[in-house]
Amino acid sequence: MKITVVGTGYVGLVTGTCLAETGNEVICVDIDAEKVSKMQNGVVPIYEPHLDVLFERNIKADRLKFTTSLDEGLVFGEIIFLALPTPEDEDGSADLSYVLNVSEEIGKKIQSYKVIVDKSTVPVGTAEKVHAVIAANASCDFDVVSNPEFLREGFAVDDFLKPERIIIGSSSDKATKLMQRLYSPFVRSGNPIIVMDEKSAELTKYAANSFLATKITFMNEIANYCEKVGADVDKVRAGMGSDSRIGKRFLFPGIGYGGSCFPKDVKALRKAGKDKDYDFKILESVIKVNDAQKTVLLPKIEAYLGNNLTGKKIAVWGLAFKPETDDIREAPSIYMMKALLEKGAELTVFDPEAMPNIKKSFGNTLTYADSMYGATEGADALLICTEWSIFRTPNFQKLKGLLNQPAIFDGRNLYNTEDLQAEGFTYISIGRKE
Ligand code: UGA
Repeated sequence: MKITVVGTGYVGLVTGTCLAETGNEVICVDIDAEKVSKMQNGVVPIYEPHLDVLFERNIKADRLKFTTSLDEGLVFGEIIFLALPTPEDEDGSADLSYVLNVSEEIGKKIQSYKVIVDKSTVPVGTAEKVHAVIAANASCDFDVVSNPEFLREGFAVDDFLKPERIIIGSSSDKATKLMQRLYSPFVRSGNPIIVMDEKSAELTKYAANSFLATKITFMNEIANYCEKVGADVDKVRAGMGSDSRIGKRFLFPGIGYGGSCFPKDVKALRKAGKDKDYDFKILESVIKVNDAQKTVLLPKIEAYLGNNLTGKKIAVWGLAFKPETDDIREAPSIYMMKALLEKGAELTVFDPEAMPNIKKSFGNTLTYADSMYGATEGADALLICTEWSIFRTPNFQKLKGLLNQPAIFDGRNLYNTEDLQAEGFTYISIGRKE
């Protein structure tokens, strides 16, 4: 099949590349000429494990192409994916201007039947709006389908190739059949393609992300309470998670959820509710609790190092919002570092992938270390914000030798408390006995 993907963010790029992998011919369109030229030369513009191999293979096979010309893209594909940004507006709602502007162009340019697929996370009713904007300009037949994406950064290729489910919101049999044909190679293991109306599909995405954010936040509150009563959240998590109705995943407490999706989507759903006079009280609480959770370790650091952090040196391991990505959007590390800098602390930081991005916003207010151990040299404490694998089994004796004081504040519960105490560390984590 011939496919066009408009927008080469991580969703668009992964979608385009993985669809080429099953033999489709794919053109990806982006307005960023520099990025397009890089991609034409085989450079993957984002860090996403395994994407480079597929990218190179499909470019070589001539199945994956890039262009800045929307016109070229709109003529090429029978199916046109919109993978455009829907940033947070000032009031928390999703800004649809990118999606609607491209829709207008689609209406003006298409000459033959096309299926327009909303892949972006968009509020309920967007497919209807996109349909209306295209219809106002189009002279040929077309359908609009909602096909929300459930990729996780860092696992995006795997999630695309082996999805647990595909959601298709469509009211056209013709479009539904084309979408089912396109996705059939990815669900051969029997995972479902669930077809529903467009609005339900759009809401499924917000409901899924908001539920997962709520699940994490609930666990963070249980962790905070564990500390008050001397219980251990890891034990509680294992006990709860063994109930298949609850499930083991997404129960890991920490210094809050971040990223480009959960924070934005939870706020957008709350705002969408308000617009319909519906007050999502749960989401209101989730936002509040998560905001506070990002700096939950701050008072503990102050209790250890003293209220005046001026001149105190703190090493920070992990800056990305989660491991296996260089993405720092809404990363809890940012909130912690800002709070520590405000209190006068000096921070030396290390992250395997996200340092260039952090440097762009923090500049020379931070010291950037070449290695994880390098960051800890002469530091009064180590703070861990992201659970990269390389942080999981450090040489504790080496670390103790490098740190000025053997103290670890762990926002991701990487280590066993008794082990660290036996090694002679002051070890403070989330929701566990100190
Ligand atoms: C999330 C969803 O998991 C994807 O299904 C969805 O497609 C994507 O948003 C999106 O809307 O595009 P992502 O933001 O890449 O994916 O990251 P997650 O792995 O879900 O993690 C989100 C945040 O939750 C991270 O900050 C992570 O540290 C935190 N988290 C996750 C916890 O604090 N505890 C957990 O148990 C799990």
